[in-house]
Amino acid sequence: MRSDLLIMITLLGLMKCVASRLVKVGDKHGWDQNVNYTDWAAHYHLYVGDWLNFVFDKHYYSVLEVNQTNYEQCIDSDFITNITRGGRDVFQLTQARPYYFISSGGYCFHGMKLAINVEEPLPASPAPSSSDKSNASPPQIGKHLVAPVLAISTLVWMLLFAQARLS
Ligand SMILES: *[C@@H]1O[C@H](CO)[C@@H](O)[C@H](O)[C@H]1NC(C)=O
Ligand SMILES: *[C@@H]1O[C@H](CO)[C@@H](O)[C@H](O)[C@H]1NC(C)=O
Ligand SMILES: *[C@@H]1O[C@H](CO)[C@@H](O)[C@H](O)[C@H]1NC(C)=O
Repeated sequence: MRSDLLIMITLLGLMKCVASRLVKVGDKHGWDQNVNYTDWAAHYHLYVGDWLNFVFDKHYYSVLEVNQTNYEQCIDSDFITNITRGGRDVFQLTQARPYYFISSGGYCFHGMKLAINVEEPLPASPAPSSSDKSNASPPQIGKHLVAPVLAISTLVWMLLFAQARLS
């Protein structure tokens, strides 16, 4: 009985890991000039625990987390975090709040600026929010993302139970 409980807790922990995703900013364009990241962000729901993956040419571009003012005005001198490493750089979204990113070197003025609103992970039963200001249909997008996560979680469950039975 005790070990069953332990397995359950372990599995719940694993499911939480599985549920966080790695999202490539800009999809096939990556982090580059002349991509409309407002458009890009409008097609995603990002949740606490998700990772952003910035793929870019580090010789020209960078990724800085900035505040809203500096995002709007493309000011790169007073950033919050410099995410730039090798040009395949990941950043975990740990809080439900807006995040703002820009490239330094003036490229922010050429479209390299990203604003996202990170949400709490989906509840088990979808609670429709009454004050959703976007005219898109979030529940549909949400289900779309949840399906693969559920499939992977189920697989992990099956594998671990098979293993537990063998040992
Ligand atoms: C990006 O797309 C949004 C929404 O379609 C639009 O309002 C905005 O003007 C575009 N930005 C640029 C720089 O083209
Ligand atoms: C962003 O940071 C700048 C510089 O520290 C500050 O002047 C500005 O008020 C900040 N804006 C917000 C929205 O916090
Ligand atoms: C950010 O970090 C990168 C890599 O460490 C560095 O080359 C770059 O100068 C930094 N950018 C700023 C604005 O500090």
